[in-house]
Amino acid sequence: MTTQLSPPYENVQAHYDLSNEFYKLFLAPTMMYTSAYYEREDMTHEEAQEAKIKLALDKCDLQPGQRLLDVGCGWGLTAIRAVENYGVRAIGITLSRDQVEHARAWSQHLGGRAEFRLQGWEEFEEPVDRIVVICATEHFREERYGTFFAKCHRLLPAQAPMLIQVIVFPEYEVQQEKCLNWTQEDVLFAKFIQRKIFHGGQLRSASVLCRYAKEAGFQTAQIQSLQPDYARTLDCWAAKLEASREAAIELTSQETYDMYMHYITGCANYYRCGKLDVVQISLKKA
Ligand SMILES: C[S@@+](CC[C@H](N)C(=O)[O-])C[C@H]1O[C@@H](n2cnc3c(N)ncnc32)[C@H](O)[C@@H]1O
Repeated sequence: MTTQLSPPYENVQAHYDLSNEFYKLFLAPTMMYTSAYYEREDMTHEEAQEAKIKLALDKCDLQPGQRLLDVGCGWGLTAIRAVENYGVRAIGITLSRDQVEHARAWSQHLGGRAEFRLQGWEEFEEPVDRIVVICATEHFREERYGTFFAKCHRLLPAQAPMLIQVIVFPEYEVQQEKCLNWTQEDVLFAKFIQRKIFHGGQLRSASVLCRYAKEAGFQTAQIQSLQPDYARTLDCWAAKLEASREAAIELTSQETYDMYMHYITGCANYYRCGKLDVVQISLKKA
């Protein structure tokens, strides 16, 4: 008998249920809270977020009528675009109450073809045709990767693609090659992020995720880095948040505003200097 894992609702809600109004101040109207994709230099942030969604969904080879699972759907736009532009039915799951409420209101025009649930992947047990995961595995922790990939493998049909976008540490060889040395300051910043921003979050390198995926029966078809795109995304969020400083403090507090500015500007520098990377990993069920 297997015991079901319980999703880390408290840790995740502590971050995402801060205030939808606060997040609206710095995310583009798309409410995408992950790296955009500046496919062309002259793109606005909004356009680059739409381009990121398209980049991810195109890799899922969606066919009309299929069922797509969006694990960690955030405020819902990826699932909504999948229904609108690819003719699928989508189920978005998130641990955030505020996100579910927002996504349900936002998808009214789709007449139930995009369904949003307050549910963890740990509790999801229905067969689906495709799975997309955009920056949610950072919350799962390595001890659950095996169970996560085994479940995805069980829920998908043979040969199905699955797309994961994830923040990663560069591979050891890349760190050596670029002489990336981790300092005391880096350790303190990582502790700040884990304790004050993303409680219980954890990063690994892409090869670690691919190893667990392989053990579960997936092949890695492609890995695409969006490293400079994340630096640009974070610069854009920082500028918007700074421009809305007063409103942000009114909605939350001076302390929260300062912490978010420190986290967003700090992370931008980590992508710029190469100590952090963000990748889209295309998997295929073998
Ligand atoms: C950084 S947000 C990304 C949201 C969205 N994919 C985007 O691109 O904007 C991470 C998301 O992962 C979700 N999440 C974290 N752990 C989860 C779990 N165990 N099951 C389902 N969703 C989870 C959070 O609720 C949140 O929606």
